[in-house]
Amino acid sequence: MSASIPVGIILAGGSGSRLYPMTAAFSKQLQPVYDKPMIYYPLSTLLMAGIREVLIISTPHDMPTFQRLLGNGSQWGISLSYAVQPEPKGIAQAFLVGEQFINGRPVCLILGDNLFYGKLDFLRAALTGPLSHATVFGYQVQDPERYGVVEMASDGSVISIEEKPQSPRSSMAIPGLYVYPPDVVDIARHLQPSDRGELEITDVHNVYLSQQRLNVIPIGRGIAWLDTGTPESLLEASTFIHAIEKRQGLKIACLEEVAWRMGFLTRDEFERAVAALPNGDYRRYAASLLTSRT
Ligand code: G1P
Repeated sequence: MSASIPVGIILAGGSGSRLYPMTAAFSKQLQPVYDKPMIYYPLSTLLMAGIREVLIISTPHDMPTFQRLLGNGSQWGISLSYAVQPEPKGIAQAFLVGEQFINGRPVCLILGDNLFYGKLDFLRAALTGPLSHATVFGYQVQDPERYGVVEMASDGSVISIEEKPQSPRSSMAIPGLYVYPPDVVDIARHLQPSDRGELEITDVHNVYLSQQRLNVIPIGRGIAWLDTGTPESLLEASTFIHAIEKRQGLKIACLEEVAWRMGFLTRDEFERAVAALPNGDYRRYAASLLTSRT
């Protein structure tokens, strides 16, 4: 695998309490978003950015289900591995859980409940840029107080980063998609847990900010960043995916298709992957690409 492309981590832990009782039996990132399990979407985002080596971090209870769902990734020409976060102790704990996997390489972290739709040039720019800096993104939202919030000066420099501020200094939320140099592991190791007992990702960003090693790339219009944390936002995400898929007759986050388009699978391998799918819409769609792929 290429040394210059960062490895990927999908953090799919947490208790999903806001989605209870849907999350009583299995985790949030396994819930359906229209016609696929939620984790298909962040996984497709990493693949579309060219990342082929991914660690999935989940709870001890859900790990076997993720493994049953996604396997070792060979069906998509990628490598998937798994690690357990015993308790939800914060996003930044992912770097400690994933230390051996990261193994001194740059890393792109995506939260398993973050969905992106649109051209991923902003992410590719971050992955191919100078990887001595951390990169986060900024996305304008109506309710920034629910997120990490970044305040930027007109010259593009970062003034402040705050986690769920009561009085946000800007409407730029920070989505759950980040790119870090290898030293993120050391930074995470030296963090103090916050008042709620978690290693906060915003504290990691403030360390990079204090070292003048934090880039923020604003994501302009034309990209959808969807939230799936509440029953209503989950429904809205499903409705969004449904509307686009129905209108275009194209599926979003069909992993076989993404792997083929990215060149991770040859045509023969793609054909074999389709043949292994159970009968149904998803297989019909994938099979139709063999004759119609543009
Ligand atoms: C987390 C982060 C927050 C980020 C958000 C994106 O919040 O702490 O900075 O903006 O993910 O989804 P959570 O969703 O865990 O409350």
